[in-house]
Amino acid sequence: MRNIVILISGGGSNMAAIVRAAQRDNWAGHYGAQVAAVISNRAEAGGLALAREQGIATQVLAHGSYANREAFDAALGQAIDRYDGPGQPALVVLAGFMRILTPAFVARYAGRLLNIHPSLLPAFPGLHTHQRALEAGCKFAGATVHQVTAELDHGPVLAQVVVPVLPGDDADSLAARVLTQEHLIYPRAIAGLLSNR
Ligand code: GAR
Repeated sequence: MRNIVILISGGGSNMAAIVRAAQRDNWAGHYGAQVAAVISNRAEAGGLALAREQGIATQVLAHGSYANREAFDAALGQAIDRYDGPGQPALVVLAGFMRILTPAFVARYAGRLLNIHPSLLPAFPGLHTHQRALEAGCKFAGATVHQVTAELDHGPVLAQVVVPVLPGDDADSLAARVLTQEHLIYPRAIAGLLSNR
């Protein structure tokens, strides 16, 4: 079985969407893959309870308890690697994981480290994407699933969704509209990767 390890920092709605899709579409049967663990850098991340309710292993690694970024990433790597199977390294899925990863970490998981970002990359990498898209007068926003490379919010694009900016939108209303679409494209992109599509 290929294990999927999902990293979260907050509400975990993308994580929940992936878990739901894995069950609904029988990823275990079709791809020999399962969501094995959810790891958060914040103990208060709402998604942890959601994962536990689904019987998924959870772990908290509080980044503040580590001396530096390298030490945190090393501990994170050890936690993830417990889910490697024989010849089946875990797939690592960032779902609202709000930490910048070290180049060493990214290199170690190259090709099996995915992220979703709430903009049409390469536009608006980084934080406050929706506010910045509104201020730029964009008529369309969206989200991107991509392979993670050393440069923040860059890397080969696996999927994108375009969402209209509507009159009267503020950052919250736009974020909510984009998020509903994230929940569709992220599971689809992961399934595509698992099936080598
Ligand atoms: C999502 O919109 C995701 O795209 C974004 O955080 C939100 C997490 O929501 N990620 C980033 O901004 C990463 N740069 P969730 O916890 O409900 O899935």
